[in-house]
Parts: sequence; C-alpha cells; structure tokens
Amino acid sequence: MTWRQRRGLGRVAAGVIARIYFDISYALLVGSVAGRRFLTLTAAGGVAAHGYLTTEDRDFLLTDLDPAPGDRLLDLGCGIGSLALEMHRRSGAQIVGVDVSRRAVAAATRRARRAGVSAAVRFYAGDLACPPLLGATSAYAIDSLMFAPDLAASVRGIGEALGPNGRLFAALLVTGPNAGDRLGRSLHAADVRVERFDDVTAALDESSRRRADAARTLLRERTATSRGRLAMLLILAEEALVQRSIEAGRMSRWRFLIAYQQPTPGGGLAYAAPCPGGVLQAL
Ligand SMILES: C[S@@+](CC[C@H](N)C(=O)[O-])C[C@H]1O[C@@H](n2cnc3c(N)ncnc32)[C@H](O)[C@@H]1O
Repeated sequence: MTWRQRRGLGRVAAGVIARIYFDISYALLVGSVAGRRFLTLTAAGGVAAHGYLTTEDRDFLLTDLDPAPGDRLLDLGCGIGSLALEMHRRSGAQIVGVDVSRRAVAAATRRARRAGVSAAVRFYAGDLACPPLLGATSAYAIDSLMFAPDLAASVRGIGEALGPNGRLFAALLVTGPNAGDRLGRSLHAADVRVERFDDVTAALDESSRRRADAARTLLRERTATSRGRLAMLLILAEEALVQRSIEAGRMSRWRFLIAYQQPTPGGGLAYAAPCPGGVLQAL
C-alpha cells in the first residue's frame, strides 16, 4: 500500500470515529435532562451550542456575513441547529445546516419543525468539506472545521458551493505550536482573501472553564440519570484535556472571515467537491 493510500484510509477511519463519537455525545446530551440543562446553562446569548461559541462570535458572524431575507447560508457542522435557528430568527435568511452526525441532524430537524420554520431552516447529514450546491451566498463553520482532515482542501470545497464573492466565517480549535502561522498557510494554500483573523484562545479558556463548572454542578445533583451523569463525565474529560492543552500552549482557538477570489459555480442540488461515499440525507 502506498503512502497516499495509507493516508486516505487513515482519513476515512478518522471520519468514521468522529461520526461515532459525535453520535454518542449528542445521544447523551440531547437524550438526558442533565444534558439539556447543560446546553441551556452554557448557552451563549441564548444559543445552546455544542462547541465554544461566544456572544462575540455570534455578533461578528452577523455583522461580517450580514445575512438578509432572500439570502441562503450554509451552517457547516451545524450540530443540533441552535445557531442556524438563531441566524434565521435574526436575519430572515434561509439556513441549510450540514452535519456528519445523524443524531444531531435529526434533533436539529425536530427543533426547526417545533419552531415552525422547517421550510426556511433545513438540515442534512453530510460532510462539511463537500456542501450541497444550493445557491448559498455564504457559509459559517463554528468549531467544526478542525475535524476536516485537509483544511485547505475543505476550504476550497466550501468555496465551490458558494456563488461568486462567497464568504466563509469560521471559528476553530488548532492544536500544536505556531498554530496561527500554520492556519494562515492553509488559508493561503486555499487561495482566499483573509478579511478577519483573530486569536480567541482567552475566550476558549473561559468557555471551557464555564462548561466544566456547569458539568460539575449537574453531576453533584443526585437526580441525574446514568445517561446524564455519563454526559457530564464526558464533558469534564473533554474540558480537562482542553484546559491542560491551553496551559501547555498546545491548543488555541481562531476566528476568521475569508472571501473567495475566483467566481465559483453554484445552483442545483449536487456535490461541490468529490465526496467519497457522501450522500446528502434529510432526516
Ligand atoms: C464541537 S461541535 C460544534 C457544533 C455546532 N457548530 C455548535 O457550535 O454547536 C462540532 C460539530 O461538527 C460536526 N462534524 C465533525 N466532522 C464533520 C464533518 N466532516 N462534516 C460535517 N460535520 C462534522 C460534529 O458532528 C459536530 O456536530
């Protein structure tokens, strides 16, 4: 087996592991009272996120992408759809969420239906690196792009799903030293114009501590079911890893806005980039 084939197999395996991990994580969080209370307690500006979204992220997202009624936006790695629903509520734009976790997509779809906006806010199971061509004007990806095995290729794939002058707003965790330089090089390789590039590691540290505190509080409550307790233990393990990595200078969080320079195709339901085994599924 060649090095390329081994790398390809490694990426497929990493994708499968990520999908299983997130399916379990959402089953615990959405499927337990403690999990749902955790999402409410840690919500930033009313948005119950699975990642480290801050109200500042949400505000920059709204001002940078400036969505309006008639626009269509992609929410890549949308989770249970909280931010998609909020973006629609604030702007009137249509939102198409894509996530690799079928559990997340099913929960997001139920929430849109309950909110009475399922025509305007839709969710699909799929890979963020090859989003559907639905004539979206811009896209955002909050704490999800770091799961793409090749950031530059994914950023290019997303650009192909957007119309000319499309924009992508993202926040993501980066591991290892010189993260800003490496991230900058990946964006340069994707041939995009960088319009915002912020190191938001301090906010990551704060959000992570708040998440750990909320999980500890809910764990102490004797009424939690075993599913709820497991959800909180998983969060505590994740946040311990995040905090240790930040302290050791091995993890940071970055927020960026990029503009695509080349006119890209668009329109019609299809895949932007070749996506091995990828099938777009509404649940
Ligand atoms: C940390 S969560 C953030 C979710 C959401 N953006 C939020 O802020 O609540 C990361 C999300 O990315 C999704 N994800 C991971 N890899 C993905 C991929 N290759 N394609 C689509 N979604 C992916 C996960 O299922 C998960 O919902």
